[in-house]
Amino acid sequence: MRRTPSTPSPTPAASSRWASPRTTAVVRPGGGVAGEEPRRARPPPGSRVRLPRARALPGLPLARFMSEQRDYKVAFDPSNIVLTAGATSANEALMFCLADQGDAFLIPTPYYPGFDRDLKWRTGAEIVPVHCTSANGFRVTRSALDDAYRRAQKRRLRVKGVLITNPSNPLGTAVPRADLEMIVDFVAAKGIHLVSDEIYSGTAFSEPGFVSVLEVLAARAPLATEFALDDRVHVVYSLSKDLGLPGFRVGAIYSSNPAVVSAATKMSSFGLVSSQTQYLLAALLGDKDFTRRYLAENKRRIKERHDQLVDGLKEIGIACLESNAGLFCWVNMSHLMHTRSFEGEMTLWKKVVFDVGLNISPGSSCHCSEPGWFRVCFANMSAKTLDVAMQRLGEFVQTSSCKAAPAALRRAAGPARSMSCPLAMNMKWALRLTPSFADRKAER
Ligand SMILES: Cc1ncc(COP(=O)(O)O)c(C=O)c1O
Repeated sequence: MRRTPSTPSPTPAASSRWASPRTTAVVRPGGGVAGEEPRRARPPPGSRVRLPRARALPGLPLARFMSEQRDYKVAFDPSNIVLTAGATSANEALMFCLADQGDAFLIPTPYYPGFDRDLKWRTGAEIVPVHCTSANGFRVTRSALDDAYRRAQKRRLRVKGVLITNPSNPLGTAVPRADLEMIVDFVAAKGIHLVSDEIYSGTAFSEPGFVSVLEVLAARAPLATEFALDDRVHVVYSLSKDLGLPGFRVGAIYSSNPAVVSAATKMSSFGLVSSQTQYLLAALLGDKDFTRRYLAENKRRIKERHDQLVDGLKEIGIACLESNAGLFCWVNMSHLMHTRSFEGEMTLWKKVVFDVGLNISPGSSCHCSEPGWFRVCFANMSAKTLDVAMQRLGEFVQTSSCKAAPAALRRAAGPARSMSCPLAMNMKWALRLTPSFADRKAER
């Protein structure tokens, strides 16, 4: 366990556990503060007054919502929840808690490109990829985990844990129960931690649905012979995806390990959720009728748009990994590359961005070990926009297969192709996220 900061606990107003904020407000000239009891003596206008201590925010709404995401098969103890500024902050805080500089976490590929930043940049922790391939639909295997563990040891890295994303970004698949069992067995055998980023838990739209690692642990509890396994499994959650609220910056760490909860609470001082946001969300998530209807409708719409994308791609001869969750599809475009290499993938990606006007993510940015896979997001656009995207991609596929000149391709393209300036800016940014070929060699 990493040394915890010796600073005192955050003040209540800055607490990262569901807070009991001590609120201050500026009194409006001539009146009180909205929602406040009338005061007997009115302070001078503009002076700061301390409002009565607000009623404690219950941890219950988020705990219940997380439970609802998991069909109430798992109960969350609100006192084990640490609020963070999104899953970004939660993942980083967990790394600070679990790893020292130079320690490693094993992560199955392809993985969310942001992990390179969130887990490594400020903590000094390392990521060792667990290479998964299309041969078995990119599922994690015991031999891939063992191989990654050995590679870490060869690099003299101390492996502190495994981090999975379930459902997966970028695959759009929920991790099957059998695979979770296998991963839990692996971490138990090695005596290391397991972090499960379950930020997409509310998006699983078809069977087999989402199974939380906590469900797997709960089922094992009566047999629990593994040493303190409960203490070594930590879940990350956020409202950014399931509620479509990335701007609110609300995430959470759930852990039954008191030392992790205590250290994470202190670390979360650097990424707090405002008490106003907490109150708003407590009210929102406390409305059971709303959350029930919202979750069902959200999944229905995600599935509808997913099916539209998959059917559209099929029509133009592009196949996807079969998926059941997430806001994206993992798409095989290797047949459109001039060379089956990561250079070929980048060339194709640039064409799709600049000539076709679609912003998709190359698999190399997710550390995929096979060139030619792309993540295509479908949930951030209307059905009509998706139609236009499919039409353009269809033209591109046709032109590519006819080996037409790039100029002809540009003529066939629509107005989005003149957006070279913002696209160029996007690309500069995306290229920074994309690991270089040198990085890729170093990973092997
Ligand atoms: C797997 C995964 N973890 C974490 C994050 C970051 O989420 P947040 O916006 O809550 O920080 C993302 C965002 O795309 C993600 O896909």
